[in-house]
Amino acid sequence: MLYIDRLYKNYGTHQAVKGLSLHIPKGDLFGFVGPNGAGKTTTIRIVCGLLKETSGQIVIDGMSLKKQPNEVKRCIGYVPDFFGVYDNFRVSEYMEFYASLYSISAKEAAALTTDLLELVNLSDKRDEYVDSLSRGMKQRLCVARALLHDPRLLVLDEPSSGLDPRARVEMKELLMNLRSMGKTIIISSHILSELSEMCTSIGIMDQGQLVAVGKIEDILKTGSENSSVILEITKDRERAISIIRQIADIEVESVMEHQIKIKHPGDDEKMNRFLIELLQQGVVLDGYHRQQDNLEQMFMQLTGNSEESV
Ligand SMILES: Nc1ncnc2c1ncn2[C@@H]1O[C@H](COP(=O)(O)OP(=O)(O)O)[C@@H](O)[C@H]1O
Ligand SMILES: [Mg+2]
Repeated sequence: MLYIDRLYKNYGTHQAVKGLSLHIPKGDLFGFVGPNGAGKTTTIRIVCGLLKETSGQIVIDGMSLKKQPNEVKRCIGYVPDFFGVYDNFRVSEYMEFYASLYSISAKEAAALTTDLLELVNLSDKRDEYVDSLSRGMKQRLCVARALLHDPRLLVLDEPSSGLDPRARVEMKELLMNLRSMGKTIIISSHILSELSEMCTSIGIMDQGQLVAVGKIEDILKTGSENSSVILEITKDRERAISIIRQIADIEVESVMEHQIKIKHPGDDEKMNRFLIELLQQGVVLDGYHRQQDNLEQMFMQLTGNSEESV
């Protein structure tokens, strides 16, 4: 569906995107995650044809953005990360105004407005002024607007930022619903947990590059190779440490007052054998937990905690 090949974008001397390559298959709900300043908005705006790349190729549905910009733009619906001010529009007028920009007839626009407002759960707001809507409602209206020309690819830049938890859930449900209708969706966020529940795959971006991409389970698996295990041992600690050091495949990373941190041996069977041996040798284990097998920690590790600002 979408291919990005060696995409670069410089703002003056600053390299915002550095050789990003990515393939998003049709029907995916792809999460684009990275700290502020990672280059998500820049990449998204280039894909949507709103910003010129420094170099690289974008191909959507077999069409090159460079060669067929208008055809490509027609198959994309874009929901920006900001919402303008629309003082004098009522919700239905807003939809009909955008429909007219796509040369949709007035009759068709009226029917589409009804359908799309229902889809985004705003039917009862159709006669309200846009400015009177809550942020979550405005965001959903923006999605409805982006769907007017029936795009195959829907791209949303941080659609949940600034939304309260309830509005976030509504947005998530809407996106999952759209996916089940066959849309390919790209959504960005600087909060990983927001994406991890709904996305089929994610790309983690940091400082203009993709540092991990794939299904969430697969990304976690690569992470577990580098994960650590904390053993809580208070009794006979010195003896326990010397026993641990003698066991094959186990590396002690650090020793704290009541905790011994070891490197996870890579597979769970080895880890189980290690624990059994430890217990057989009479070591008293007060607690045991794994570090970094949580996506959020993995994200922090991959992105080097390099957030510009929150
Ligand atoms: N118009 C611009 N001019 C100069 N630098 C920019 C501009 N837009 C973004 N940047 C810089 O490019 C980098 C990536 O920004 P952006 O794509 O907005 O990241 P994200 O959306 O992941 O927060 C940041 O360092 C940002 O400061
Ligand atoms: Mg952004």
